[in-house]
Amino acid sequence: MTTTGARHTGAALDRVDALEKVTGRAKYAYDHGPADMVHAVPVEASIARGEIVQVDVDAMLKLPGVLAAIWHGNAPRLATADEDLAVLQSRRVAYRGQYVAVVVAETLDDAREAARTLRVEYAPEEHDVGLRADHPKLYRPDGVNAGYPTDTEQGDPDAALASAPVVVDEVYSTPAEHNNPMEPHATVAEWHGDGLTVHEPSQHVSGLRATLASLFGMPPGHVHVLSPYVGGGFGSKAKVHPHVILAALTAKQVGRPVKMAVTRRQMFAATAYRTPTIQRVRLGAEPGGRLIAVTHDVFEQSSTVAEFAEQAAVPTRTMYAAPHRRTTHRLVRLDVPTPSWMRAPGECPGMFALESAMDELAIACGIDPVELRVRNEPAVHPESGLPFSSRNLVGCLREGARRFGWAGRDPRPGMRREGRLLVGTGVASSTFPVSRAPSSATARAEPDGRYTVRIAAADIGTGARTVLTQIAADALLTMPGLVVVEVGDSALPAAAVAGGSMGTASWGTAVVRACEALRERLDAAGGVVPAAGLEAAADTTKEVGAQQKYSRHAFGAQFAEVAVDADTGETRVRRLLGVFAAGRILNPKTARSQFVGGMVMGLSMALLEESIMDREFGDYLNRDLAQYHIAANADVRDVRAFWLEEEDPHLNPMGSKGIGEIGIVGTAAAIANAVHHATGVRIRDLPIRLDKLL
Ligand code: MOS
Repeated sequence: MTTTGARHTGAALDRVDALEKVTGRAKYAYDHGPADMVHAVPVEASIARGEIVQVDVDAMLKLPGVLAAIWHGNAPRLATADEDLAVLQSRRVAYRGQYVAVVVAETLDDAREAARTLRVEYAPEEHDVGLRADHPKLYRPDGVNAGYPTDTEQGDPDAALASAPVVVDEVYSTPAEHNNPMEPHATVAEWHGDGLTVHEPSQHVSGLRATLASLFGMPPGHVHVLSPYVGGGFGSKAKVHPHVILAALTAKQVGRPVKMAVTRRQMFAATAYRTPTIQRVRLGAEPGGRLIAVTHDVFEQSSTVAEFAEQAAVPTRTMYAAPHRRTTHRLVRLDVPTPSWMRAPGECPGMFALESAMDELAIACGIDPVELRVRNEPAVHPESGLPFSSRNLVGCLREGARRFGWAGRDPRPGMRREGRLLVGTGVASSTFPVSRAPSSATARAEPDGRYTVRIAAADIGTGARTVLTQIAADALLTMPGLVVVEVGDSALPAAAVAGGSMGTASWGTAVVRACEALRERLDAAGGVVPAAGLEAAADTTKEVGAQQKYSRHAFGAQFAEVAVDADTGETRVRRLLGVFAAGRILNPKTARSQFVGGMVMGLSMALLEESIMDREFGDYLNRDLAQYHIAANADVRDVRAFWLEEEDPHLNPMGSKGIGEIGIVGTAAAIANAVHHATGVRIRDLPIRLDKLL
């Protein structure tokens, strides 16, 4: 239950680090330049599959400024079972763009030139980079991302679909999409004796420290990761990527601090991307729209080095009631980089398919799409049977419809014309699970009335530092101005990843418990803080593990209005409106940015984002922001986010649900549904390009 005074949570506190950021005083990883620093530049594989025959470094080592080159032939052995992290450990090339060597030089220009001239001879093998739903090497992984079961089944969905009065049976697909945070990845690594210091934008400094310590075979305390400011991540900075290891390796080798900046181009092979998906959704329903059967079969790719199975059919397990149901995930290991987390992995592509299919079902049944969703609202979780801790999807749909002006909508497609423009509206649901992971924190009182709260959390632009300040102020019964929250440093008490929309819930719980423990100590001291200060610590492992069984999810409803140029096929999203139910909103200002940011990214997914595989070279063709398009300000006309107040006692001391990812979920379906309403053309294959509409 809520144990905080809740006077400051819920208020629109300005970002506590706003001044540092807008004045440029905030130092990002790349901004660090220790004395004597040198530069490392990687060499990328130019084949998609095969073996390295020879690396010819002799000529290159004579170039001016060049200090060292490391490749599999001379690299120190790394202790890891994770083949994605086994950098420079073998002759094998598993994907084009994989790092096969790294060059260190006095200046960035020298290092670049040396890397360019390094000769690597390959024995290429035939590669396979094409995802297909009938690929002969598809297999059933043991589980999918975030620990979900691979498949689920209840009742007899095939028989139910065969006899259902109304059936929608369609295939939807989403392309590979690449995380492109504003700040590219960059590492500055420095050894002091047997200790390693790393400046790296990270969503999880505790995890990065543990991984580096095990790779280099040293105690975690010998690794120090500093990441006070992160210019966005969207999942790409949650896992450890090879460049960090290369920076650490080379710094050790040359005995000087090394900077290794991943270029935007390199990010397209070396950091993270969302797998392309092919998804078959079948819905069987009564003529009145009540679902009898739902199946969702997902096909996606991973690399030959590691298995990453995105949980795209998982949201279908939660959304709607239906007695007969099945969800499956199948994977094929191709000669591509390992896909990874990109904002709302699973829910985001999966809900594009399900919510497009629901729109098709609404049309097939002649029922309003808002009404259709309301009619299929489950009383308990449709698969587990657990009660929802709170579920306000219907409230979001109703409130969104009211605010958007949905009432009286003519459902017929292609009927509203404004000159050359065809106008339409669409709706889709959103959902995201509510999670929490163990974290620890300390809280310290100073004699002058100030407090310091320490936790190895990450503020990746979300406002985590700010909201933790509010949470601490409430728990300490003080003012935010008297609390300093330190995050982004692995020397702070270990904490959960800024991912899975669970940062605030995980860290907030630890902060509240540390502050409560401090208050107890203060009370015991008669309210007087000794000159040396008073400190208390908390670890939430037990509390998080003992959480009662409920189905915990945030929900939302997204409404879109589009205008499609009938001559050019150009689609503009005129209005996006989302209503979310995500527990208590702890800071309306930063929360609004999270929701709106997610919706804009969903708009970007709907209309623009697409990584195109060149089958011959075996690589994604578009490797910069001129070719990989993301929504810019001019694409964003009118985006509004609202929320319903939700009191849910089964979450965490703050009563909050995660909000970092739900904004992107459902947006693309709402837009595709609006495009259908505008034009009569159903786009089941993202993005909605003009050539698909003409
Ligand atoms: Mo998010 S893709 O869980 O960082």
